[in-house]
Amino acid sequence: MSRIAYVNGQYVPHIDASVHVEDRGYQFADGVYEVIPVVGNKLIGEGGHLDRLQRSLGELKIEEPMKRDPLKLVMREVLRRNGVVNGLIYLQITRGVAPRDHAFPLDAVSSLVMTAKKTSLEKSEKKAEIGVAVITVPDIRWGRCDIKSVALLPNILAKQEAADRGAYEAFQYDVDGFVTEGTSTNAWIVDQDGTLITRPESNSILSGITRADLLALLETENIKVELRAFTVEELHNAREVFLTSSSAYVQPVVEVDGKVIGNGKPGSISANLREIFKSYMNN
Ligand code: PDD
Repeated sequence: MSRIAYVNGQYVPHIDASVHVEDRGYQFADGVYEVIPVVGNKLIGEGGHLDRLQRSLGELKIEEPMKRDPLKLVMREVLRRNGVVNGLIYLQITRGVAPRDHAFPLDAVSSLVMTAKKTSLEKSEKKAEIGVAVITVPDIRWGRCDIKSVALLPNILAKQEAADRGAYEAFQYDVDGFVTEGTSTNAWIVDQDGTLITRPESNSILSGITRADLLALLETENIKVELRAFTVEELHNAREVFLTSSSAYVQPVVEVDGKVIGNGKPGSISANLREIFKSYMNN
């Protein structure tokens, strides 16, 4: 019996089952999932799994692709078509397909996929008789912001909060109150003495290429920059604030948390740096 997957309303051969490249699950890890054990045709802990699924969807404000009863029917049909009596059923729901943009799309329809596979209770029994080994590792979920991973769920939630509050970007801060970076940009300030400050490279930020290129340009132009973390308070009291990224280049910021920066217009240093960056791009 060949494996069958359920993809957005259709039962398709597992080998051909696919979602669009701009599915937000693929692009941003913007989705949720459940794995339910099946033993003797019974979905074990089904209610708990479906409650948690509903909760996860609610927390992420993802539309339920279908109600619980039809979902249960589809799960059973997936099991039937795959001849799974003992095994696992996997469900994944994402925010759907939309042009890549961190904030939630307005009109995406959530995607639902399901797969099922057989597992052997005997194998599990054997392992249980012997026992297994574990190791300990530091819990770094997710402390590796230096990796340009597609696991961007925290970033998109923060970007959406920015959008909800009428802002372009959210600058994130760490447990000590120091700004790390934007959700898709690096953060910079100019303090009241005119010193340029940006956080140094570490696991806490993505080492932006725009940031690195701008740092190199500053060196050529003999403009000093302090590579250090700055606090949210310093950000609020900065003379100028700007952000850098491949999509925004050098973008002046004129308001932070509702507080006007400078005179509410792009500052002269930020504007100058944008010009410097533009000429670098144009040459
Ligand atoms: N974002 N920090 C984060 C978390 C980012 O995702 C990005 C880039 C940057 C800036 O890096 P660079 O200068 O190399 O673009 C910093 C891209 C633009 C995006 O996700 O759309």
